Amino acid sequence: MKTARLLILSLTALMATTTAVAGNAEAGKTKSATCAACHGPAGISTNPLWPNLAGQNEAYLVKQIKAFKGGERNDPNMNAMVAALSDEDIADLAAFYAAQTCK
Ligand code: HEC
Repeated sequence: MKTARLLILSLTALMATTTAVAGNAEAGKTKSATCAACHGPAGISTNPLWPNLAGQNEAYLVKQIKAFKGGERNDPNMNAMVAALSDEDIADLAAFYAAQTCK
């Protein structure tokens, strides 16, 4: 009985965490207007030096955007682009690009 209650408690906590992290792809689409100049409106870039983001793993996108923001990853194009993004913006953008179909 005690084990079952503990299990339910931990599952509830896990679900709460997942909800907080998951981004909103619809909101991300709106927020991606400035990113589209380089990464394309649906995450397919037109320049071979700009990566495609469509269909990329959501967690990886979050990690990379945060790395640019924190300065662990450096690129003159990207660092300025993500400087003002909140955690929610980053989650929404990652959800949007992850939901796109790669070519
Ligand atoms: C001026 C062009 C430009 C704009 C605008 C731009 N990016 Fe980028 N982005 C780049 C380039 C170039 C790279 C590759 C950097 C490198 O070589 O490390 C990159 C890399 C990335 C990566 C890492 C991809 C990977 O496979 O590791 C992500 C994620 C990303 N951009 C998201 C965004 C988001 C979100 C926005 C809008 C807020 C944005 N970018 C706006 C040019 C741009």
